[in-house]
Amino acid sequence: MRKLIDETAMPRAWLRKRKRDQYYRAAKRTGYRSRAAYKLRQIAKKFSIIRTGDVVLDLGAAPGGWSQIAKEIVGEAGTVLAVDRVRIRDMEGISTLTLDLDTQGAVEQLKEWIGGPADVVLSDISPRLSGNKTKDHALSVHLSGIALAVAAQVLRKGGNAVIKVFQGDVYDDYLDSVKKQFSFVKGHRPKATISESAEIYVIAKGFRG
Ligand SMILES: C[S@@+](CC[C@H](N)C(=O)[O-])C[C@H]1O[C@@H](n2cnc3c(N)ncnc32)[C@H](O)[C@@H]1O
Repeated sequence: MRKLIDETAMPRAWLRKRKRDQYYRAAKRTGYRSRAAYKLRQIAKKFSIIRTGDVVLDLGAAPGGWSQIAKEIVGEAGTVLAVDRVRIRDMEGISTLTLDLDTQGAVEQLKEWIGGPADVVLSDISPRLSGNKTKDHALSVHLSGIALAVAAQVLRKGGNAVIKVFQGDVYDDYLDSVKKQFSFVKGHRPKATISESAEIYVIAKGFRG
């Protein structure tokens, strides 16, 4: 089977730890494309973010674990649209688009591709990590800002969003900008989040329109 990650580039200790990780092993066993799938499953269950028949836009979707979970929830009547700057391998019942959202005109291109309002916007977008926490936080907030701008342009009134961001100095400012646009907003770390990770998921419900 084709490998999704170039494991030769990863430190050995990291690889050993990952192989012991319950969510990594479960994803391998069940055919989910990433361990991240379990994070969305836990979030969706706790906060009732996605419903049967919904139109879901998944940003930073590669390799596709979140989209697989979203498709399971929306079912045949729903739609999952998956976008990433790297190509997403085909998934049954899911439409994919290769697009770098941090480029001029990307949001317009995305809107044209979607062709109508979405019920839910998901973003698990991560920058390429440099190891410098301040820099990675700034990059993450920038990308999460793009995800929020996309949500504000494509969500129907009352729609929901889940946006990943790395915590740091301006996390509270970011949360405030989300609160202006949604009636319920909360930062949440699902159980499947790796304990050392700075990531947090901003749960946003009830888009004000
Ligand atoms: C943690 S991975 C997403 C994992 C995915 N949710 C899953 O369950 O399989 C983060 C993704 O963000 C994407 N990404 C980063 N910057 C991006 C950008 N500017 N435009 C689109 N995608 C981007 C990366 O290519 C990467 O695939």
